[in-house]
Amino acid sequence: MKPVEIAILGFGTVGSGAYRILNEHAKAIARRAACPIAVKRILVRDASRERAVPTPPGVLTESFEEILADPDIRIVVEALGGEEPALGYTLAALEAGKDVVTANKLALALHGRRIFETARAAGRRIAFEGAVAGGIPVIRALREGLTANNIERITGILNGTTNFILSAMTDRGMEYQDALREAQSLGYAEADPSADVEGFDAAYKLAILASLGFEGYVDPRRIPRKGISTVTAQDIALADKFGYRIKLLAGAERADGSLHLSVTPSLVPKGHPLANVNGAYNAVTIEGDSVGQLMLYGKGAGDLPTGSAVVSDIIELVRFPDLSESEIIWQDREMELSDSTARPSEYYVRLLVKDLPGVLGQIATMLGVHGISIATVTQELDNAGRATLLIFTHECERSSVEAAAGTLRTMPFVLSIANILPLWAGTRG
Ligand code: NAP
Ligand code: HSE
Repeated sequence: MKPVEIAILGFGTVGSGAYRILNEHAKAIARRAACPIAVKRILVRDASRERAVPTPPGVLTESFEEILADPDIRIVVEALGGEEPALGYTLAALEAGKDVVTANKLALALHGRRIFETARAAGRRIAFEGAVAGGIPVIRALREGLTANNIERITGILNGTTNFILSAMTDRGMEYQDALREAQSLGYAEADPSADVEGFDAAYKLAILASLGFEGYVDPRRIPRKGISTVTAQDIALADKFGYRIKLLAGAERADGSLHLSVTPSLVPKGHPLANVNGAYNAVTIEGDSVGQLMLYGKGAGDLPTGSAVVSDIIELVRFPDLSESEIIWQDREMELSDSTARPSEYYVRLLVKDLPGVLGQIATMLGVHGISIATVTQELDNAGRATLLIFTHECERSSVEAAAGTLRTMPFVLSIANILPLWAGTRG
Protein backbone atom coordinates (compact mmCIF):
# COMPACT_ATOMS: atom_id res chain seq x y z
CA MET A 1 0.00 0.00 0.00
CA LYS A 2 1.31 3.49 -0.85
CA PRO A 3 2.25 5.30 2.35
CA VAL A 4 0.70 8.56 3.44
CA GLU A 5 3.49 11.11 3.19
CA ILE A 6 3.97 13.77 5.81
CA ALA A 7 6.35 16.64 6.62
CA ILE A 8 7.63 17.77 10.02
CA LEU A 9 8.44 21.44 10.54
CA GLY A 10 11.23 21.70 13.13
CA PHE A 11 13.54 18.96 14.35
CA GLY A 12 13.97 19.91 18.01
CA THR A 13 12.57 18.10 21.04
CA VAL A 14 9.07 17.46 19.69
CA GLY A 15 9.86 17.07 15.99
CA SER A 16 12.64 14.55 16.61
CA GLY A 17 10.57 12.69 19.26
CA ALA A 18 7.68 12.23 16.83
CA TYR A 19 10.08 11.18 14.07
CA ARG A 20 11.73 8.56 16.29
CA ILE A 21 8.37 7.06 17.27
CA LEU A 22 7.18 6.96 13.65
CA ASN A 23 10.34 5.04 12.70
CA GLU A 24 10.70 2.80 15.70
CA HIS A 25 7.01 1.77 15.74
CA ALA A 26 6.46 1.95 11.99
CA LYS A 27 4.83 -1.48 11.63
CA ALA A 28 2.40 -1.10 14.50
CA ILE A 29 1.57 2.43 13.44
CA ALA A 30 0.85 1.28 9.87
CA ARG A 31 -1.53 -1.32 11.28
CA ARG A 32 -3.29 1.17 13.55
CA ALA A 33 -3.52 3.84 10.85
CA ALA A 34 -4.55 1.20 8.28
CA CYS A 35 -1.76 2.57 6.08
CA PRO A 36 2.01 3.11 6.34
CA ILE A 37 3.17 6.63 7.17
CA ALA A 38 6.37 8.06 5.67
CA VAL A 39 8.16 11.24 6.71
CA LYS A 40 9.08 12.74 3.35
CA ARG A 41 10.55 16.07 4.49
CA ILE A 42 11.71 17.71 7.74
CA LEU A 43 12.12 21.49 7.79
CA VAL A 44 15.25 22.73 9.58
CA ARG A 45 17.20 25.97 9.58
CA ASP A 46 20.49 24.30 8.67
CA ALA A 47 20.27 21.00 6.80
CA SER A 48 24.04 20.48 6.92
CA ARG A 49 24.18 20.44 10.72
CA GLU A 50 24.81 17.07 12.34
CA ARG A 51 21.78 15.89 14.35
CA ALA A 52 21.42 13.55 17.33
CA VAL A 53 18.62 11.73 15.47
CA PRO A 54 19.87 10.62 12.03
CA THR A 55 17.69 10.90 8.90
CA PRO A 56 18.11 9.44 5.40
CA PRO A 57 19.73 11.72 2.81
CA GLY A 58 17.36 14.25 1.23
CA VAL A 59 14.80 14.29 4.05
CA LEU A 60 16.06 17.48 5.71
CA THR A 61 15.16 20.65 3.84
CA GLU A 62 15.51 24.35 4.50
CA SER A 63 12.59 25.22 2.20
CA PHE A 64 9.04 25.39 3.51
CA GLU A 65 7.89 26.29 -0.02
CA GLU A 66 9.14 22.92 -1.26
CA ILE A 67 6.92 21.19 1.35
CA LEU A 68 3.96 23.43 0.55
CA ALA A 69 4.20 22.79 -3.18
CA ASP A 70 4.48 19.01 -2.81
CA PRO A 71 1.01 17.57 -3.53
CA ASP A 72 2.00 14.18 -2.09
CA ILE A 73 2.54 15.63 1.41
CA ARG A 74 -0.86 15.26 3.04
CA ILE A 75 -0.07 16.16 6.65
CA VAL A 76 2.20 18.86 8.03
CA VAL A 77 3.39 18.57 11.65
CA GLU A 78 4.21 22.00 13.07
CA ALA A 79 6.91 21.54 15.72
CA LEU A 80 8.69 24.89 15.38
CA GLY A 81 7.10 26.71 18.30
CA GLY A 82 6.56 30.45 18.74
CA GLU A 83 4.27 32.77 16.85
CA GLU A 84 5.96 33.25 13.47
CA PRO A 85 6.73 31.65 11.11
CA ALA A 86 4.78 28.83 12.81
CA LEU A 87 1.39 30.53 12.40
CA GLY A 88 2.00 31.56 8.79
CA TYR A 89 3.19 28.06 7.88
CA THR A 90 0.17 26.48 9.58
CA LEU A 91 -2.29 28.69 7.70
CA ALA A 92 -0.45 28.19 4.40
CA ALA A 93 -0.42 24.40 4.84
CA LEU A 94 -4.17 24.34 5.52
CA GLU A 95 -4.87 26.61 2.55
CA ALA A 96 -2.73 24.31 0.40
CA GLY A 97 -5.06 21.44 1.30
CA LYS A 98 -2.95 19.73 3.96
CA ASP A 99 -4.06 18.65 7.42
CA VAL A 100 -1.98 20.05 10.29
CA VAL A 101 -0.82 18.51 13.56
CA THR A 102 0.56 20.99 16.07
CA ALA A 103 1.92 21.05 19.62
CA ASN A 104 2.12 24.84 19.57
CA LYS A 105 -0.13 26.03 22.40
CA LEU A 106 0.98 29.63 22.03
CA ALA A 107 -0.11 29.86 18.38
CA LEU A 108 -3.31 27.91 19.07
CA ALA A 109 -4.32 29.88 22.14
CA LEU A 110 -3.59 33.29 20.63
CA HIS A 111 -4.72 32.57 17.05
CA GLY A 112 -7.02 29.56 17.43
CA ARG A 113 -10.01 31.24 15.84
CA ARG A 114 -8.06 32.18 12.74
CA ILE A 115 -6.45 28.73 12.50
CA PHE A 116 -9.78 26.90 12.84
CA GLU A 117 -11.58 29.25 10.47
CA THR A 118 -8.86 28.65 7.90
CA ALA A 119 -9.10 24.88 8.41
CA ARG A 120 -12.88 25.04 8.04
CA ALA A 121 -12.73 27.17 4.91
CA ALA A 122 -10.16 24.82 3.38
CA GLY A 123 -12.07 21.69 4.46
CA ARG A 124 -8.97 20.54 6.32
CA ARG A 125 -8.35 19.34 9.85
CA ILE A 126 -6.14 20.43 12.68
CA ALA A 127 -5.12 18.14 15.55
CA PHE A 128 -3.35 19.32 18.68
CA GLU A 129 -3.12 16.65 21.38
CA GLY A 130 0.53 17.56 22.06
CA ALA A 131 -0.29 21.21 22.78
CA VAL A 132 -1.54 20.63 26.33
CA ALA A 133 0.09 18.46 28.98
CA GLY A 134 2.51 16.68 26.63
CA GLY A 135 1.82 12.95 26.62
CA ILE A 136 -1.45 13.12 28.59
CA PRO A 137 -4.40 12.59 26.23
CA VAL A 138 -6.47 15.38 27.78
CA ILE A 139 -7.64 16.91 24.50
CA ARG A 140 -9.17 13.58 23.46
CA ALA A 141 -10.68 13.16 26.92
CA LEU A 142 -12.53 16.48 26.52
CA ARG A 143 -13.38 16.05 22.84
CA GLU A 144 -14.44 12.43 22.98
CA GLY A 145 -14.53 10.65 26.31
CA LEU A 146 -16.40 13.34 28.24
CA THR A 147 -18.81 14.75 25.66
CA ALA A 148 -21.81 13.38 27.59
CA ASN A 149 -21.03 15.82 30.41
CA ASN A 150 -21.48 19.44 31.20
CA ILE A 151 -17.96 20.24 32.34
CA GLU A 152 -18.03 22.09 35.63
CA ARG A 153 -14.40 22.44 36.52
CA ILE A 154 -10.91 21.86 35.14
CA THR A 155 -7.84 22.19 37.34
CA GLY A 156 -4.39 21.43 36.08
CA ILE A 157 -0.71 21.40 36.79
CA LEU A 158 0.04 22.18 33.19
CA ASN A 159 3.63 23.38 33.21
CA GLY A 160 6.40 20.89 33.84
CA THR A 161 9.14 23.47 34.33
CA THR A 162 7.40 25.28 37.18
CA ASN A 163 6.33 22.03 38.77
CA PHE A 164 9.94 20.84 38.65
CA ILE A 165 11.10 24.08 40.30
CA LEU A 166 8.44 24.00 43.03
CA SER A 167 9.13 20.30 43.69
CA ALA A 168 12.88 20.94 43.99
CA MET A 169 12.16 23.79 46.43
CA THR A 170 9.84 21.52 48.42
CA ASP A 171 11.84 18.31 48.45
CA ARG A 172 15.36 19.72 48.62
CA GLY A 173 14.77 23.10 50.25
CA MET A 174 16.24 24.89 47.24
CA GLU A 175 15.74 28.60 46.60
CA TYR A 176 13.83 29.60 43.48
CA GLN A 177 16.85 30.85 41.48
CA ASP A 178 18.87 27.67 42.16
CA ALA A 179 15.95 25.43 41.21
CA LEU A 180 15.39 27.47 38.04
CA ARG A 181 19.05 27.10 37.08
CA GLU A 182 18.77 23.33 37.58
CA ALA A 183 15.60 23.20 35.45
CA GLN A 184 17.46 25.06 32.71
CA SER A 185 20.49 22.78 32.89
CA LEU A 186 18.22 19.72 32.60
CA GLY A 187 16.56 21.22 29.53
CA TYR A 188 13.11 21.71 31.09
CA ALA A 189 13.12 25.51 31.11
CA GLU A 190 13.88 27.73 28.16
CA ALA A 191 16.95 30.00 28.13
CA ASP A 192 14.36 32.77 28.58
CA PRO A 193 12.11 30.98 31.07
CA SER A 194 9.52 33.74 31.50
CA ALA A 195 6.80 31.93 29.49
CA ASP A 196 7.04 29.07 31.98
CA VAL A 197 7.72 30.81 35.30
CA GLU A 198 5.39 33.77 34.78
CA GLY A 199 2.50 31.45 33.93
CA PHE A 200 2.00 32.36 30.24
CA ASP A 201 2.52 28.77 29.08
CA ALA A 202 -0.03 27.48 31.62
CA ALA A 203 -2.48 30.24 30.59
CA TYR A 204 -2.22 29.23 26.90
CA LYS A 205 -2.90 25.62 27.83
CA LEU A 206 -5.76 26.56 30.13
CA ALA A 207 -7.32 28.68 27.39
CA ILE A 208 -7.27 25.67 25.06
CA LEU A 209 -8.77 23.31 27.67
CA ALA A 210 -11.41 25.85 28.70
CA SER A 211 -12.35 26.53 25.08
CA LEU A 212 -12.96 22.82 24.59
CA GLY A 213 -14.57 22.11 27.93
CA PHE A 214 -16.84 25.14 28.04
CA GLU A 215 -17.48 25.39 24.29
CA GLY A 216 -16.42 28.90 23.48
CA TYR A 217 -13.27 30.79 22.60
CA VAL A 218 -11.22 31.87 25.62
CA ASP A 219 -8.65 34.60 25.05
CA PRO A 220 -5.56 33.68 27.15
CA ARG A 221 -4.68 37.36 27.55
CA ARG A 222 -7.78 37.79 29.69
CA ILE A 223 -6.89 35.03 32.16
CA PRO A 224 -5.71 36.49 35.50
CA ARG A 225 -2.19 35.17 35.83
CA LYS A 226 0.51 35.08 38.49
CA GLY A 227 3.74 33.12 38.09
CA ILE A 228 5.98 31.41 40.62
CA SER A 229 8.89 33.87 40.70
CA THR A 230 7.65 35.40 43.97
CA VAL A 231 7.42 32.03 45.76
CA THR A 232 10.29 31.56 48.19
CA ALA A 233 11.68 28.59 50.09
CA GLN A 234 10.13 30.20 53.20
CA ASP A 235 6.64 30.13 51.61
CA ILE A 236 7.14 26.47 50.74
CA ALA A 237 8.32 25.63 54.28
CA LEU A 238 5.47 27.55 55.96
CA ALA A 239 2.87 26.00 53.68
CA ASP A 240 4.32 22.58 54.47
CA LYS A 241 4.12 23.25 58.20
CA PHE A 242 0.39 23.94 57.86
CA GLY A 243 -0.33 20.91 55.68
CA TYR A 244 -0.05 22.30 52.15
CA ARG A 245 2.11 22.10 49.03
CA ILE A 246 2.43 25.10 46.73
CA LYS A 247 1.55 24.28 43.12
CA LEU A 248 1.07 26.45 40.04
CA LEU A 249 -2.58 25.69 39.34
CA ALA A 250 -4.43 26.56 36.17
CA GLY A 251 -8.13 26.53 36.96
CA ALA A 252 -11.38 26.98 35.05
CA GLU A 253 -14.74 26.73 36.72
CA ARG A 254 -18.28 27.32 35.60
CA ALA A 255 -20.27 28.79 38.48
CA ASP A 256 -23.31 31.03 38.70
CA GLY A 257 -23.58 31.08 34.90
CA SER A 258 -20.12 32.48 34.24
CA LEU A 259 -16.63 31.19 33.77
CA HIS A 260 -13.87 31.78 36.32
CA LEU A 261 -10.32 31.31 35.12
CA SER A 262 -6.96 31.77 36.80
CA VAL A 263 -3.34 30.72 36.78
CA THR A 264 -1.76 31.19 40.18
CA PRO A 265 0.48 29.47 42.70
CA SER A 266 -1.93 27.98 45.23
CA LEU A 267 -1.79 26.05 48.47
CA VAL A 268 -3.05 22.51 47.87
CA PRO A 269 -3.80 20.23 50.86
CA LYS A 270 -1.04 17.61 51.05
CA GLY A 271 -3.54 14.77 50.95
CA HIS A 272 -4.95 15.75 47.54
CA PRO A 273 -3.48 13.90 44.53
CA LEU A 274 -2.60 17.24 42.85
CA ALA A 275 -0.28 18.03 45.77
CA ASN A 276 1.63 14.85 44.99
CA VAL A 277 2.30 15.55 41.33
CA ASN A 278 6.02 16.17 41.39
CA GLY A 279 8.97 16.96 39.14
CA ALA A 280 8.22 17.68 35.49
CA TYR A 281 4.95 15.71 35.64
CA ASN A 282 1.58 17.26 34.78
CA ALA A 283 -1.92 16.40 35.95
CA VAL A 284 -5.42 17.55 35.10
CA THR A 285 -8.55 17.04 37.15
CA ILE A 286 -11.85 17.41 35.35
CA GLU A 287 -15.31 17.47 36.89
CA GLY A 288 -18.32 16.67 34.77
CA ASP A 289 -21.92 16.58 35.93
CA SER A 290 -22.30 12.89 35.04
CA VAL A 291 -18.84 11.45 35.47
CA GLY A 292 -17.91 13.31 38.67
CA GLN A 293 -14.25 14.03 39.22
CA LEU A 294 -11.43 12.32 37.34
CA MET A 295 -7.71 12.93 37.12
CA LEU A 296 -5.21 12.39 34.32
CA TYR A 297 -1.53 12.23 35.21
CA GLY A 298 1.67 11.82 33.24
CA LYS A 299 4.66 13.39 31.57
CA GLY A 300 3.79 16.88 30.42
CA ALA A 301 6.85 17.50 28.32
CA GLY A 302 9.77 15.83 26.61
CA ASP A 303 10.53 14.34 23.21
CA LEU A 304 8.86 10.93 23.44
CA PRO A 305 5.88 11.87 25.69
CA THR A 306 4.97 14.80 23.44
CA GLY A 307 5.90 12.74 20.40
CA SER A 308 3.39 10.14 21.61
CA ALA A 309 0.61 12.73 21.48
CA VAL A 310 1.72 14.11 18.12
CA VAL A 311 1.93 10.67 16.51
CA SER A 312 -1.51 9.73 17.86
CA ASP A 313 -2.85 12.79 16.02
CA ILE A 314 -1.08 11.76 12.81
CA ILE A 315 -2.54 8.25 13.07
CA GLU A 316 -6.02 9.66 13.60
CA LEU A 317 -5.77 11.96 10.59
CA VAL A 318 -4.58 9.09 8.41
CA ARG A 319 -7.21 6.69 9.70
CA PHE A 320 -10.18 9.06 9.45
CA PRO A 321 -9.32 11.31 6.51
CA ASP A 322 -12.84 12.57 5.96
CA LEU A 323 -13.94 13.63 9.42
CA SER A 324 -14.23 17.39 9.53
CA GLU A 325 -13.63 17.97 13.22
CA SER A 326 -12.70 21.60 12.76
CA GLU A 327 -16.45 22.18 12.83
CA ILE A 328 -16.92 21.14 16.42
CA ILE A 329 -13.84 22.03 18.34
CA TRP A 330 -13.63 25.81 18.36
CA GLN A 331 -16.91 27.55 18.84
CA ASP A 332 -17.44 30.96 17.31
CA ARG A 333 -18.63 32.66 20.45
CA GLU A 334 -16.15 34.23 22.82
CA MET A 335 -16.65 33.14 26.42
CA GLU A 336 -17.78 35.70 28.96
CA LEU A 337 -15.29 35.59 31.81
CA SER A 338 -16.41 36.51 35.29
CA ASP A 339 -14.87 39.27 37.35
CA SER A 340 -12.19 37.10 38.93
CA THR A 341 -11.59 39.57 41.76
CA ALA A 342 -15.02 38.67 43.13
CA ARG A 343 -14.18 34.96 43.36
CA PRO A 344 -14.07 33.96 47.04
CA SER A 345 -11.15 31.99 48.38
CA GLU A 346 -9.25 31.49 51.59
CA TYR A 347 -5.84 33.14 51.54
CA TYR A 348 -2.33 32.70 52.88
CA VAL A 349 -0.82 36.11 53.68
CA ARG A 350 2.84 36.41 54.68
CA LEU A 351 4.09 39.77 55.97
CA LEU A 352 7.31 41.07 57.42
CA VAL A 353 6.56 43.62 60.13
CA LYS A 354 8.34 45.52 62.89
CA ASP A 355 7.94 43.68 66.17
CA LEU A 356 6.25 46.52 68.10
CA PRO A 357 3.30 46.75 70.52
CA GLY A 358 -0.10 46.99 68.82
CA VAL A 359 1.05 45.93 65.33
CA LEU A 360 -0.97 42.71 65.26
CA GLY A 361 -4.06 44.49 66.59
CA GLN A 362 -3.91 47.22 63.95
CA ILE A 363 -3.46 44.68 61.15
CA ALA A 364 -6.37 42.56 62.41
CA THR A 365 -8.60 45.63 62.69
CA MET A 366 -7.67 46.82 59.20
CA LEU A 367 -8.41 43.37 57.71
CA GLY A 368 -11.78 43.43 59.47
CA VAL A 369 -12.54 46.84 57.95
CA HIS A 370 -11.97 45.25 54.51
CA GLY A 371 -14.36 42.43 55.42
CA ILE A 372 -11.57 39.87 55.85
CA SER A 373 -11.93 37.43 58.70
CA ILE A 374 -8.77 35.82 60.10
CA ALA A 375 -8.76 32.04 60.49
CA THR A 376 -5.31 31.66 62.09
CA VAL A 377 -2.32 33.85 62.72
CA THR A 378 1.21 32.88 63.71
CA GLN A 379 4.42 34.82 63.99
CA GLU A 380 8.12 34.07 63.96
CA LEU A 381 10.55 36.61 65.39
CA ASP A 382 14.06 37.22 64.11
CA ASN A 383 16.84 38.81 66.14
CA ALA A 384 16.60 42.10 64.24
CA GLY A 385 13.33 43.21 65.82
CA ARG A 386 11.19 41.91 62.96
CA ALA A 387 8.39 39.39 62.84
CA THR A 388 7.17 37.21 59.99
CA LEU A 389 3.40 37.18 60.30
CA LEU A 390 1.53 34.35 58.65
CA ILE A 391 -2.20 34.89 58.37
CA PHE A 392 -4.69 32.37 56.99
CA THR A 393 -7.98 34.08 56.17
CA HIS A 394 -11.48 32.73 55.95
CA GLU A 395 -13.08 32.90 52.49
CA CYS A 396 -13.03 36.41 51.09
CA GLU A 397 -13.00 38.10 47.70
CA ARG A 398 -9.70 38.76 45.96
CA SER A 399 -10.69 42.40 45.57
CA SER A 400 -10.88 42.66 49.39
CA VAL A 401 -7.44 41.10 49.75
CA GLU A 402 -6.01 43.47 47.13
CA ALA A 403 -7.58 46.48 48.84
CA ALA A 404 -6.21 45.31 52.21
CA ALA A 405 -2.76 44.81 50.66
CA GLY A 406 -2.91 48.42 49.44
CA THR A 407 -3.61 49.62 52.98
CA LEU A 408 -0.92 47.36 54.46
CA ARG A 409 1.66 49.02 52.18
CA THR A 410 0.86 52.38 53.78
CA MET A 411 1.31 51.11 57.36
CA PRO A 412 4.69 52.25 58.68
CA PHE A 413 5.40 49.05 60.61
CA VAL A 414 4.82 46.79 57.57
CA LEU A 415 8.27 46.17 56.08
CA SER A 416 7.06 44.03 53.18
CA ILE A 417 4.13 41.97 51.95
CA ALA A 418 6.12 38.87 51.18
CA ASN A 419 3.37 36.87 49.48
CA ILE A 420 -0.37 36.43 49.18
CA LEU A 421 -1.56 33.12 47.77
CA PRO A 422 -5.00 31.50 47.53
CA LEU A 423 -5.81 28.13 49.07
CA TRP A 424 -7.15 25.72 46.51
CA ALA A 425 -10.70 24.79 47.40
CA GLY A 426 -10.70 21.32 45.80
CA THR A 427 -14.11 19.96 44.96
CA ARG A 428 -16.68 22.53 46.01
CA GLY A 429 -19.78 21.19 47.64
P1 NAP B 1 12.76 23.16 20.10
O1 NAP B 1 13.41 22.00 20.73
O2 NAP B 1 13.32 24.51 20.27
O3 NAP B 1 12.66 22.84 18.55
C1 NAP B 1 12.20 23.72 17.58
C2 NAP B 1 12.88 23.38 16.30
O4 NAP B 1 12.33 24.18 15.28
C3 NAP B 1 14.38 23.66 16.38
O5 NAP B 1 15.06 22.54 15.88
C4 NAP B 1 14.56 24.86 15.47
O6 NAP B 1 15.73 24.84 14.74
C5 NAP B 1 13.40 24.68 14.50
N1 NAP B 1 12.99 25.95 13.92
C6 NAP B 1 12.56 27.05 14.55
N2 NAP B 1 12.27 28.01 13.66
C7 NAP B 1 12.55 27.49 12.44
C8 NAP B 1 12.44 27.98 11.12
N3 NAP B 1 12.03 29.20 10.87
N4 NAP B 1 12.79 27.16 10.10
C9 NAP B 1 13.24 25.92 10.34
N5 NAP B 1 13.35 25.39 11.58
C10 NAP B 1 13.01 26.18 12.62
O7 NAP B 1 11.24 23.27 20.51
P2 NAP B 1 10.33 22.08 21.03
O8 NAP B 1 10.54 21.95 22.49
O9 NAP B 1 10.45 20.89 20.16
O10 NAP B 1 8.87 22.75 20.88
C11 NAP B 1 8.18 22.75 19.63
C12 NAP B 1 6.72 23.09 19.90
O11 NAP B 1 6.14 22.08 20.71
C13 NAP B 1 6.53 24.39 20.66
O12 NAP B 1 5.35 24.99 20.21
C14 NAP B 1 6.38 23.93 22.10
O13 NAP B 1 5.64 24.84 22.87
C15 NAP B 1 5.60 22.65 21.91
N6 NAP B 1 5.73 21.69 22.97
C16 NAP B 1 6.95 21.35 23.45
C17 NAP B 1 7.05 20.39 24.44
C18 NAP B 1 8.37 19.96 24.97
O14 NAP B 1 8.42 19.09 25.82
N7 NAP B 1 9.48 20.51 24.51
C19 NAP B 1 5.89 19.76 24.94
C20 NAP B 1 4.64 20.13 24.42
C21 NAP B 1 4.57 21.09 23.44
P3 NAP B 1 17.14 25.24 15.38
O15 NAP B 1 17.60 23.99 16.03
O16 NAP B 1 17.93 25.61 14.19
O17 NAP B 1 16.89 26.37 16.33
N1 HSE C 1 7.71 24.46 28.72
C1 HSE C 1 6.64 23.51 28.81
C2 HSE C 1 6.59 22.95 30.22
C3 HSE C 1 6.85 22.40 27.79
O1 HSE C 1 7.54 23.15 30.99
O2 HSE C 1 5.59 22.32 30.57
C4 HSE C 1 5.64 21.54 27.62
O3 HSE C 1 4.58 22.25 27.04
